[in-house]
Amino acid sequence: MARPSMLLLLLVASFALISVADEDPAMIGRFDQWMIKHGRAYTNAGEKQRRFEVYKKNVELIEEFNSGTNSYTLTDTKFADLTNEEYRAKVLGLGAPGRTGRQAPRIEEVAPVTIPEKGSDSDDGDLPKEVDWRKKGAVVVVKNQGSCGSCWAFSAVAAIEGLNQIKNGKLVSLSEQELVDCDAEAVGCAGGFMSWAFEFVMDNHGLTTEASYPYLGINGVCNKAKLNETTVSITGYKNVTVNSEADLLKAAAKQPVSVAVDAGGFVWQLYGGGVFGGPCTAQVNHGVTVVGYGETNSTGADKPPEKYWIVKNSWGAEWGEAGYIRLQRDAGVPTGLCGIALLASYPVM
Ligand SMILES: *[C@@H]1O[C@H](CO)[C@@H](O)[C@H](O)[C@H]1NC(C)=O
Ligand SMILES: *[C@@H]1O[C@H](CO)[C@@H](O)[C@H](O)[C@H]1NC(C)=O
Ligand SMILES: *[C@@H]1O[C@H](CO)[C@@H](O)[C@H](O)[C@H]1NC(C)=O
Repeated sequence: MARPSMLLLLLVASFALISVADEDPAMIGRFDQWMIKHGRAYTNAGEKQRRFEVYKKNVELIEEFNSGTNSYTLTDTKFADLTNEEYRAKVLGLGAPGRTGRQAPRIEEVAPVTIPEKGSDSDDGDLPKEVDWRKKGAVVVVKNQGSCGSCWAFSAVAAIEGLNQIKNGKLVSLSEQELVDCDAEAVGCAGGFMSWAFEFVMDNHGLTTEASYPYLGINGVCNKAKLNETTVSITGYKNVTVNSEADLLKAAAKQPVSVAVDAGGFVWQLYGGGVFGGPCTAQVNHGVTVVGYGETNSTGADKPPEKYWIVKNSWGAEWGEAGYIRLQRDAGVPTGLCGIALLASYPVM
């Protein structure tokens, strides 16, 4: 006799859930507005209801987070109708084993002798207090990798675009799709590494432009005729010392730098702006580009300046701070916050 009544209870409970959702006009209105803003359409009412439930949970998470004291805020980004698992599967893309079975770069966590003191500026040396390569015209508009794990290509390309402008005075948007299709080491949308992208450009004696080989966001067949269009070339690339935000700072003062981070958490998924201070791990899974650094102005004794990295992402300009995230610098962890000092590299011309 216990069984039918339990079943009934379950049924009642699930009806109750749906009717609660239906009776939440403010949330439904917000979801509808969000759908319009992000041009979202669902195949049927059931799917819309499922997405609404996910969205609602995310909004609750956002409101709870934003009611606390944090250096950044969360918002219902374009990923707000995805569970964190779906988000992780969709928009990252660092680190699949190579097509040729090549070993992934070793990501070492070398324990340092001394852990840098939080907020210490002892190692900044004579470097400028802030650098923003966007203001110097060395950063192409924020791009969008779509549902393709090609972050590694975007990260490397942004670093090459930056160096080309700094060296040759020309800001040219370059092709990620050429890397996705033609880099035999990587597996296109299934992942890759920035170092492999740099090696491809070196071996190919250059990379063509975005205009000539536009981004499609799918694994395509390599357009071999385009390999001859070596618009911008590099002679090599360098790795930044592992676990050294000081060396990363030196590199970033000279040019945009490719870095890897852990961007898997809901706090990245729903990042709305401000100096991101975690939580995140050092298990890096996403390639992005450091295009500068700086610090906030102190706004009183209880609000000391916060140092940050200016990080260019490839999720479109509608995510974060117009496509960027400011990530806390010298956060007091050897790997750098989110592992930013673990797998940093930059091209050489
Ligand atoms: C950079 O580091 C990776 C290991 O993480 C290594 O495979 C690669 O050869 C290094 N490249 C250079 C140019 O030192
Ligand atoms: C690239 O150019 C070389 C000579 O400039 C030529 O031999 C080769 O066939 C070209 N390859 C393609 C795919 O167009
Ligand atoms: C800090 O203040 C200076 C001048 O007072 C200003 O130029 C700068 O833009 C401010 N920085 C930030 C991050 O607000």
